[in-house]
Amino acid sequence: MAHTIVIFGASGDLTSRKLIPAFYSLLKKKRLPPDTNIVGVSRSEFSHDDWRESLKKSTKQFAGALFDDATWDSFGAKVFYHSGDIQKTADFHGLREFLKTIEPEGTVTRVYYLSTMPQLYATAVEQLGAAGLADDSHGERRVIIEKPFGTDLASATELNVRVHKVFREEQIYRIDHYLGKETVQNLFAMRFANSIFEPLWNRNYVDHVQITVAEEVVIGSRAGYYDTSGILRDMFQNHIFQLLMITAMEPPPRFDSSLVRDEKVKVLHSIRPMTGGDFASQTVRGQYEGYLNEEGVPAKSQTETFAILKLYIDNWRWRNSPFYLRSGKAMSCRSSQIVIQFKQPPHLVFGSKMRQFESNRLVIQIQPAEGIQMHIQSKVPDTDMKTRTSTLDFRFNKGDAGAAPDGYQRLLLDALNGDASLFARSDEVELSWGIIDPILAAWRSPAAPPLLSYPSGLWGPEKSSDWMRKQKREWFDVCPIIE
Ligand code: BG6
Repeated sequence: MAHTIVIFGASGDLTSRKLIPAFYSLLKKKRLPPDTNIVGVSRSEFSHDDWRESLKKSTKQFAGALFDDATWDSFGAKVFYHSGDIQKTADFHGLREFLKTIEPEGTVTRVYYLSTMPQLYATAVEQLGAAGLADDSHGERRVIIEKPFGTDLASATELNVRVHKVFREEQIYRIDHYLGKETVQNLFAMRFANSIFEPLWNRNYVDHVQITVAEEVVIGSRAGYYDTSGILRDMFQNHIFQLLMITAMEPPPRFDSSLVRDEKVKVLHSIRPMTGGDFASQTVRGQYEGYLNEEGVPAKSQTETFAILKLYIDNWRWRNSPFYLRSGKAMSCRSSQIVIQFKQPPHLVFGSKMRQFESNRLVIQIQPAEGIQMHIQSKVPDTDMKTRTSTLDFRFNKGDAGAAPDGYQRLLLDALNGDASLFARSDEVELSWGIIDPILAAWRSPAAPPLLSYPSGLWGPEKSSDWMRKQKREWFDVCPIIE
């Protein structure tokens, strides 16, 4: 069956860096449905050939080893450009007529990708509806909506309401590129295709969980966006909450989009709301030194570039085993990882010989290292019963050819095939904003914890380590360990 992908915001960075290279790579791997056309829409005036030419250059750069001229030629023939302004209804009528000229007769599945400024998402959807482009009597119609989906609960709810007036929930694909990462999908496999972890995966054996997404980068030229966003909106509401949900969820009966998302949403329902003093005692916020000197940042900006949230999940599995979520810019290294910190054995039979004793730990590395490391205690050879920490390593793509594909390939293919398992549902998005909003409100009130300054190249503010130690816990601050 024929497919058409229409990308709004076609002249933007995401289109050239991620979307087109991903579609190209799918074609190269023979996974793109054969009769697929891609139409870029934005206000700039390009001919089809101009656009193809500029995409050829960027795809050469971003598709890496998969690029070759012959494949590009067959891909380029499927790529079209149509100039249009989202604010202009007439342009959507023009687009509808243009699509008729390239689509075959009969049933065509159409996927609209909104990669425009977020303020235009609702208008774009309304215009699609008004121009009859959402009419699904001649094939399915789906819409992919980029992050951010709203900036708080009220705006996300309003966006959901407006989008739902045109598309049914099952037609809406809210994208979070973290779910496209192979190592994030492997979390499902690790948890639900193995029986050895499940008996331990709960409050009886797990002392706490640490989810860290550390980035070395600073905000660069993104002040306009970043300073109004801050790290809770930019990283926690979406990417980090996704990691939290998959780590904490119950097994779904089947890997089916509504069943998977039902279980994820239950995790968000179970998060204990913070009240009163919790906002100061369960959160840490920081800003890297030099942030105020970044171009475009207001002189007295209080925007956070680092944060920790300590969340409790009030259900039978996790009650009182906290989840520590942490993320920051300008940190010591780029490393995203989930650490399952197990409890001490109930009784230490080797007493003082266990000098370097550390409780078991499972370190799940998301990126840039990709793998899992189990920390266990073992005997030091040729000693009496001295023990030390040893590791069991699993490298994710060991034995597989090439690097893991960019996450957009998986997500775009799933959207083309109508599988929404790895996309956020409306209730998921609203519930996550419902957790973030009160924290942001508290951070703008006298009850806020101090905004701690930290030099670049550390694991955030020094006080965040003291804060953890006061809870008799330690951060696992180790740069990628499985290369
Ligand atoms: C984006 C954020 O969604 O994710 C960026 O806006 C962040 O601030 C990026 O740097 C991180 O993505 P990745 O895939 O590099 O971990």
